[in-house]
Amino acid sequence: MTGATQDEMLLELRALVPEASNCVRILDQTELPWRVRERRLDSLDAVVEAIRTLAVRGAPLIGAAAAFGCALALSRAARADDGVLAQALATLAATRPTAVNLQWALARMAARLRPLPPSARAEAAWAEAQAILDEDAASCAAIGRHGLALLLECGGSGHDRRPLQIMTHCNAGWLATAAYGTALAPVYAAHARGVDMHVWVSETRPRNQGLLTAWELARAGVAHTLVADSAAGWLLATGQVDIVLVGADRIATNGDVANKIGTYLKALAAGDRGVPFCVAAPIATIDWACTHGDAIPIEARDGDELRWQSSAEGPVRVAGADTAVANPAFDITPARLVTAIISERGIARAARLAADLAAWRPGDGPARGGHGPGG
Ligand code: MRU
Repeated sequence: MTGATQDEMLLELRALVPEASNCVRILDQTELPWRVRERRLDSLDAVVEAIRTLAVRGAPLIGAAAAFGCALALSRAARADDGVLAQALATLAATRPTAVNLQWALARMAARLRPLPPSARAEAAWAEAQAILDEDAASCAAIGRHGLALLLECGGSGHDRRPLQIMTHCNAGWLATAAYGTALAPVYAAHARGVDMHVWVSETRPRNQGLLTAWELARAGVAHTLVADSAAGWLLATGQVDIVLVGADRIATNGDVANKIGTYLKALAAGDRGVPFCVAAPIATIDWACTHGDAIPIEARDGDELRWQSSAEGPVRVAGADTAVANPAFDITPARLVTAIISERGIARAARLAADLAAWRPGDGPARGGHGPGG
C-alpha cells in the first residue's frame, strides 16, 4: 500500500477494523491480489453484501463481521426493539451456510442483547462485536504458538536437511480472521523464529483464495510456490511435502472437518503417503450440536464463479454461459484422515480426537450448545 498513512497500515495486517461505532473498514478481498482497496461498511445491508460476495471471507472473519453487522443495524434503528434485532440476526444468518463461526457469533450477540432494554442495545452490541474480534485475534495468536510446536515436530525429518515443506489450501491467513490467521498463524510464528521452510500454496479454484495466501506470504517474506490444485497429489506422492496444514469452516464433535473444496483430496493423498494432515481453527469453529460431518451444510455457490475468472485485467470468461456447472464450496474430510486439530487450547491428536475436542467444550454460557441465533 504505497504512501499509506499509519492508520491505513493497520489494514495491512487486519482485514477488518472497527471505527467509532458507526462503521467498519475492510480490505475488499474480491479485489486482491490485484488491487489493495479499502471499503467502509456502515449498514447491515453493506455487511450482508460484503459477506455474500466474499469481500469479507474466512470463517472467523465472517463471524466477527456479522457481529458488527448486527451492531450497525441496532445503531441505525430508531428503536432497537426485538423485531429489529431478530430481523438483523436472521438476515445475517442467511448469508452463508457452512462456516459455523457465523452462527456462533450471532448466537452470542443474541444472548448478550436480548435481555437488554432497546436503549442499551446498540452500545452493548458494538462492545460485544469488538470482544468477538479481539478474542479471535488472541485465539489465532495462541493457535500460532501451539501450531509452531507441531511444525517443529514435523521439521528436519531428513530429506537432505531441506527446508520444512508445508502445503496449505485456500486462505486461512490474517485476511480470513481478526489477525494472524489459523493455518498461517503457525507459519508466521515459525518464520519469526527463523525456521527454514517453504509453503506449497494451492490455487483453490474457483475463487482462487490461494492467490490471497500467496499475497500474504509474499508480504511476510515467507518462501512459497503456487501450484494448481491438481498438483497436490503428485507433490505428496513424491515426498515433497512434510505436513499439510489447513483451516476449517466447521468441525463436528467426532473430528470430521468441513473446509474449502479440494481439502478432502489433499487429506486422501496425505493419508496414503503418511504425511501429517493437520487442521487449525479456533474453538468457535467446532459445532457442538453436530456429531458427524454428514450433518454439515455445504454451500452451493453460483455457477458463474466457474464460468468467469478474476484477473488483473478484470473478469475473464472461461466457460460458456450455457455450460452446466456445479460449484460446491466446501467438502468434508473424515476424522480418520485428520492427524491433529490445533486450537487456542492446544493440539487434539488423531488417536483421541473426539475426546480431546470434548475437553475444549466451553462451559455454560452463550458459546455452548447449538449455534443458531436462538442459542
Ligand atoms: O473464502 P471462503 O470464506 O469461502 O472460505 C473459507 C476459508 O477461508 C477456508 O475454508 C479456510 O481454510 C477456513 S477459514 C480460516
